[in-house]
Amino acid sequence: MRVLSGIQSSGVLHLGNYFGAMKQHIEDQERHECFFFIANYHSLTTVHDAARLRQLTVDVALDYLAMGLDPAKATLFRQSDVPEVTELAWILSTVTGKGLLERATSYKDKIAKGIEPSMGLFCYPILMAADILIYRPQLVPVGKDQLQHVEMTQDMAGYFNNTYGREVFVRPEAKLNEAAIVPGVDGQKMSKSYGNTIDLFGEPKAMKKRIMAIVTDSTPVDAPKDPENCNVFALLKLLAPPEETAQWAERYRAGGMGYGEAKKRVAELYEDFFGPKRERRAALAARPDELENILRDGGRRARSVAQSVMADVRDACGIMTARS
Ligand code: ADP
Ligand code: TRP
Repeated sequence: MRVLSGIQSSGVLHLGNYFGAMKQHIEDQERHECFFFIANYHSLTTVHDAARLRQLTVDVALDYLAMGLDPAKATLFRQSDVPEVTELAWILSTVTGKGLLERATSYKDKIAKGIEPSMGLFCYPILMAADILIYRPQLVPVGKDQLQHVEMTQDMAGYFNNTYGREVFVRPEAKLNEAAIVPGVDGQKMSKSYGNTIDLFGEPKAMKKRIMAIVTDSTPVDAPKDPENCNVFALLKLLAPPEETAQWAERYRAGGMGYGEAKKRVAELYEDFFGPKRERRAALAARPDELENILRDGGRRARSVAQSVMADVRDACGIMTARS
């Protein structure tokens, strides 16, 4: 089965991005033909600083590789190494009604957060549909927040196929991950735009400080506590083995345990898990040529698939170029 997904390079990746998206991508490399890309064209809807965008793009690639993505098993590439996606986005925009985009909840959420409503932000779902359809994947692993975008992609595939009377695009299905929403240190959804993140590769002392500052309720030490309503326990559950998680749940319910103890354990588990990967990441970062080769090679493989699909697209709609 072919699997495709992308992560924007619009900020430093955090535990929410890992447990909500990247972890599933890396697991999929063992079972499927995988394409994962860094959505740097999408990042332009929020990042307007060239040096920062370059750095964030490298960072996402390093994060994927440090966390275990194997370029021999999965194709990792930059969206911008397949410029045909922007051509396809244009073509899809000509068969897509404005009403479809006006219903996009993520657009409304982003405007509510104060992001400038540029045409790029409005058309974001069209570029995402192009990203997907150009590789004819069967499955698109995403978090719940992206489900509507995949449904819009299915609609756009249908509009194109119907308009031109040909099954050029395969209907992709979303593969929703089971991951719960990871809470940030303030108890809201962990998100780079809320400043409440625990970063994958943050500086260890700073990350420990953030973990120790996770918001909890004011239940006294002696009193029983509800693990399911605790931001610290939510992170413990992600980082500790199941037997240990069960023991902590019991200790919560029994009372006599302060939240500080659980926080200390989260900080330890965080370091045990990410510490060795931080070293792997630093080693990779010290070999920029190797990283560039991995991305170029991935880009070449992805582009060759995209070019052959684009030849079908152009043929279906009567666009002639010197290339196809
Ligand atoms: P952010 O909210 O930090 O801007 P993005 O919207 O770029 O993150 O998220 C990229 C992907 O990471 C999302 O599709 C989602 O699946 C996952 N994700 C982000 N934050 C969380 C979270 N707190 N819990 C679970 N998954 C998350
Ligand atoms: N919109 C996705 C996000 O914010 C990133 C993305 C861009 C994507 N293109 C994609 C995800 C194609 C899956 C498939 O998380």
